[in-house]
Amino acid sequence: MACRKGQMKVFLFILHFLFLQEVTGCSVIRKNPDLGNCNCNSNIKLFTQEDIRNNAGGKYLGDHRAWSPIVEAQDDCSVTVTCKPVPGVSSFFTVLFRGYGPPIYINRVVANETTFVERPQPRSINTFECKWYSGAYEWFYFDEHVRHAAFACVADSNSCACPQIAYKALDVLIENLIPSASDQCGFLRASCPNKDEVPYLRSPHTLPIQSGNGRHVWVSDWRRFEDLLCVKNGTTFDWYFGNLKLEGQITVECDSNRAIFQADAAAPCGVFKDIEHIDDLYQNKIGYFADAEFGINYWIPSDEFEMKCDDGYRPVVFSPNNDPIESPSLIRCA
Ligand SMILES: *[C@@H]1O[C@H](CO)[C@@H](O)[C@H](O)[C@H]1NC(C)=O
Ligand SMILES: *[C@@H]1O[C@H](CO)[C@@H](O)[C@H](O)[C@H]1NC(C)=O
Repeated sequence: MACRKGQMKVFLFILHFLFLQEVTGCSVIRKNPDLGNCNCNSNIKLFTQEDIRNNAGGKYLGDHRAWSPIVEAQDDCSVTVTCKPVPGVSSFFTVLFRGYGPPIYINRVVANETTFVERPQPRSINTFECKWYSGAYEWFYFDEHVRHAAFACVADSNSCACPQIAYKALDVLIENLIPSASDQCGFLRASCPNKDEVPYLRSPHTLPIQSGNGRHVWVSDWRRFEDLLCVKNGTTFDWYFGNLKLEGQITVECDSNRAIFQADAAAPCGVFKDIEHIDDLYQNKIGYFADAEFGINYWIPSDEFEMKCDDGYRPVVFSPNNDPIESPSLIRCA
């Protein structure tokens, strides 16, 4: 995170889509998506595999089988999404694609079992909201404007084709989260024998990655690597973590936050690195901040905090897998 001086430029592209499903035969005609009288009811699309291949942020999933979820909304625009298994595929993700930015993983099913949240599908997304914005109703996800929202179900059946994840058995404890899922070779949780340490996922070309406790936040030292996805590209298979490609040998190792980030974590989500100089930035995600002037960061690490800057500076969150997030309202461990 850093504070950055300058003007914010906002470009708006407001397009509207109208989607009607064609149904033949004599059964009851059911629209999908069916957003009722929600004010944003005309701007959600369902993506086919071809649409995914043409989506700038999501095309890395283009070799995965994709099919349509059932998308419904109440008149107040509360949206629910259901991905059902298709023949031969019982592990899959529900994915929100956008006209700009990488895809957002909304739900995960492994061997027909929902894993991101306690409840089975339909998945409700209460952070996905319809708001009046610059003269029209538009979708927002966690308060961020979503242009050209589209949902798809995306198969997750390749994971045993990805490089095997290595670890030293005595140094880190690893458990398979759903041993009966024969299509999963990376659906893991890990914990460390030394309770001052946390398991980090390491790959040769990224910073060490820490993961959360998942839905068992209160009771467990275990970290769930649920964002780990094996992606097929032609005949090659690579692990991805939250849209970030991890090339080469992946390992799980225990380390202290202090050894990795020179700081202690106040929340299970891990440590924020303080950026005070351009050289501290993730080189692939600098964008137009190359000439930025960096100020002093003020925040108190916890589960939820606001970042403050001196006058004339704005907070910016940088990460290796996302474009810079400007002026975040609240930073929350979820
Ligand atoms: C997929 O493979 C092709 C051909 O090897 C390569 O050009 C492309 O960059 C790869 N895509 C990703 C997302 O790695
Ligand atoms: C998942 O459900 C489908 C359809 O209900 C079924 O055909 C398939 O065998 C199930 N797969 C697993 C791994 O339980």
